[in-house]
Amino acid sequence: MPAPDVYPHVYTEASLATMQPDAGDYGLLNDAALVTEGDKIAWLGPMADLPRPYATTAKTPLGGRLITPALIDCHTHIVHGGNRALEFEMRLQGASYEAIARAGGGIVSTVTATRDTSEAELLAAALIRADALIREGVSTIEVKSGYGLDLDTELKMLRVARQIATQRPLRISTSFLGAHAVPKGAGADSYIDTVCIPALRAAHAEGLVDMVDGFCEGIAFDVPQISRLFDVAQALGLPVKLHAEQLSNIGGTQLAARYNARSADHVEYATEADAAALAQSGTVAVLLPGAFYTLHETQKPPVAAFRAHGVPMALATDWNPGSSPLGSLLLTMNMGCTLFGLTPAEALAGTTRHAAQALGLTDCGTLKAGKRADLAIWNVKTPAELSYGIGINPLHTRIFAGAQT
Ligand code: NIG
Ligand code: FE
Repeated sequence: MPAPDVYPHVYTEASLATMQPDAGDYGLLNDAALVTEGDKIAWLGPMADLPRPYATTAKTPLGGRLITPALIDCHTHIVHGGNRALEFEMRLQGASYEAIARAGGGIVSTVTATRDTSEAELLAAALIRADALIREGVSTIEVKSGYGLDLDTELKMLRVARQIATQRPLRISTSFLGAHAVPKGAGADSYIDTVCIPALRAAHAEGLVDMVDGFCEGIAFDVPQISRLFDVAQALGLPVKLHAEQLSNIGGTQLAARYNARSADHVEYATEADAAALAQSGTVAVLLPGAFYTLHETQKPPVAAFRAHGVPMALATDWNPGSSPLGSLLLTMNMGCTLFGLTPAEALAGTTRHAAQALGLTDCGTLKAGKRADLAIWNVKTPAELSYGIGINPLHTRIFAGAQT
């Protein structure tokens, strides 16, 4: 891990997409400079205003390149065993995601593969995925459990997630997703009470859990079952988030709002009333165009209602072996614009400021003095170019906690 640099770094001749709220679409500053000291942003502003003490410091001129906050992928399942290419082939021949799940494939097939994969192998595979995101200027990744569905494997997954941050210059937020699917041969109610909740308590006791997540859906868990889990999360002082309204509307979004969830994710089937509830609770709507695309969905999330009610929207890869084998956050931004109608400014807010909010992080996601110096420097001049390219990676340099990595 590189040691944080204690000397100031002065980046000049840059455009800054500060992503400050209420500063216009991108909070854009042209002909600007940015100074980092240690792991923090020390100053930013017009080059002409660069404070005197930095005048004599060596500078890194960026030739008009764009600096943004480093990107944040706030919804992933990058710790998992195996792959589901076979199901991809089945879906291309007409089988639906739900039908495959009900026939014993889907999430539970990845459960078998993940149980059968050692901690070291899971880590090695997760690091390859993390590296792909790092190469696109990502500094922070949320990682879920949920392919264990037993105490040992849920804990194994979360330990692997924590280890990623010891092997790479990355910040990892973990979500306990024991309520992801009903394991083969179990009943949903007894699974929640006798396996999932005890596993949550054990994982929390080991310091492995930052948030608690669930899958509220006809093929997974209903509102009363998720409520029991969320009651335990609340008692443990853990914030919650929820996979809600992905394939149908069964009340997950309103449930998430009642528990002041950090985010409600997918939300394709959310309604105007759901949007109002999210606005009321300050919950972020995390949009996942990779799953929408992979599953050939046609129901789009109610973006207009989210805008009208002022619901912050984030974008994430949902990188998982089934519904979203999508390893690019930049492509996700493009898909958010092309498939869901977001503006490029909303897409960048969705992978910076709003993604930070979805994880409860207040020290990153915007460019401001005092925030962490997690930055991405891009070979582009204007921020819309980040969403416009398809399969193009214009990253010039990633800065993690002040250090070039
Ligand atoms: O976010 N919706 C539930 N969970 C994942 C799917 C996981 C899988 O198919 O393995 C999702 O899309
Ligand atoms: Fe997911």
